[in-house]
Amino acid sequence: MTNFATRIDSVSISGIRKVFDAAGPNAINLGLGQPDFPTPSHIRDAAIHSIQNGNSDRYTPNSGILSLRRAISQKHSRDNSLDISPDNIIATAGGSEALHLAIEAHVNPGEKVLIPDPGFVSYRALTHISGGIPVPIKLRDDLTMDPASIESSISEGVAAFIVNSPGNPTGGVQSKADMKEFARIADDYDILCISDEVYEHFVFEGSHRSPMEFSKCNNVLIVNTCSKSYSMTGWRLGWVAGSHERIDKMLRIHQYAQACASAVSQHAALAALSGPQDGLFEMVNTFKQRRDVLVDGLIDMGLDVPLPKGAFYAFPSVPPGWVENVLDQGVIVVPGSSFGASGSGSARIAYTVDSTQLEKAIDIMRKVTHSV
Ligand SMILES: Cc1ncc(COP(=O)(O)O)c(C=O)c1O
Repeated sequence: MTNFATRIDSVSISGIRKVFDAAGPNAINLGLGQPDFPTPSHIRDAAIHSIQNGNSDRYTPNSGILSLRRAISQKHSRDNSLDISPDNIIATAGGSEALHLAIEAHVNPGEKVLIPDPGFVSYRALTHISGGIPVPIKLRDDLTMDPASIESSISEGVAAFIVNSPGNPTGGVQSKADMKEFARIADDYDILCISDEVYEHFVFEGSHRSPMEFSKCNNVLIVNTCSKSYSMTGWRLGWVAGSHERIDKMLRIHQYAQACASAVSQHAALAALSGPQDGLFEMVNTFKQRRDVLVDGLIDMGLDVPLPKGAFYAFPSVPPGWVENVLDQGVIVVPGSSFGASGSGSARIAYTVDSTQLEKAIDIMRKVTHSV
């Protein structure tokens, strides 16, 4: 057997996968982080046309086709009041690659990245893959990240911190005041703020704000994707936006690791971002209704759950053995410990099933809660 790079030993296959493997074939799946809606037909049609017209046969420019980067730029102006040049955007293989580029291009071996705990599983793994050290930052009781916790954790060797709002696995939404603070901290300490905004449209109370709006020194990067907003997880099309210097460095990695994002998916994303947005708004409304049903059900059965103001997850505290019992009864949820040490004693419930299945799952969770 050949030798393996030691840094990969600190990365393992996510705990989420282990839960799926343990579930029966008819289980109700509240474990998946993807919308249960089809990709809207005008997006699929745009992809089909690009194949039929021969527009997807070849490599595209490394950073993506200009029309897509223009559409992303217009999206940022429309939704976030941000003026981002198409030259300051790289189309990537999903938000996942965008996160990888951001961390890989900015973190030296041995440098630290402050990550939310509980937080999205990739932050820890990608930091390790870059040779960096993830530093978990415990969240507030309402499951948002306190800028003061970031500021007090900054020391020599901290290269970056990650903000994720709305958050996975918590559904927490950071306030405008928090986002302003994150931008100030990035400016004052001259460290990178990676703002993962992949759930930006899934906000039920308040509104999504980006720290980039308040940044003065180009120390904020935005990671985003079509995966969630347009139900396109399989298409693998995301992007990273930031200053020219940062884009230039990230493009060097993207060029050699990826060459370019899939051409057909770039054409689909162009249609998604520049076409009608009503499918997105309907989907978000449906998620809000489900969120209310789920949260009412969890409170009614006696569980403590901070109100998730966004994304499509709830993150209640649960008694010992609850996750295993719920799984035995045919409902897949993810143990909170999969998202960091501070997640233990909680569970992530994704309401990515229709209301009939959701009601059924709530009944099962109620019975388990009363029995453990
Ligand atoms: C917070 C967060 N960031 C990034 C991603 C990655 O998105 P993509 O599927 O576009 O790679 C996910 C996917 O679940 C996520 O939850």
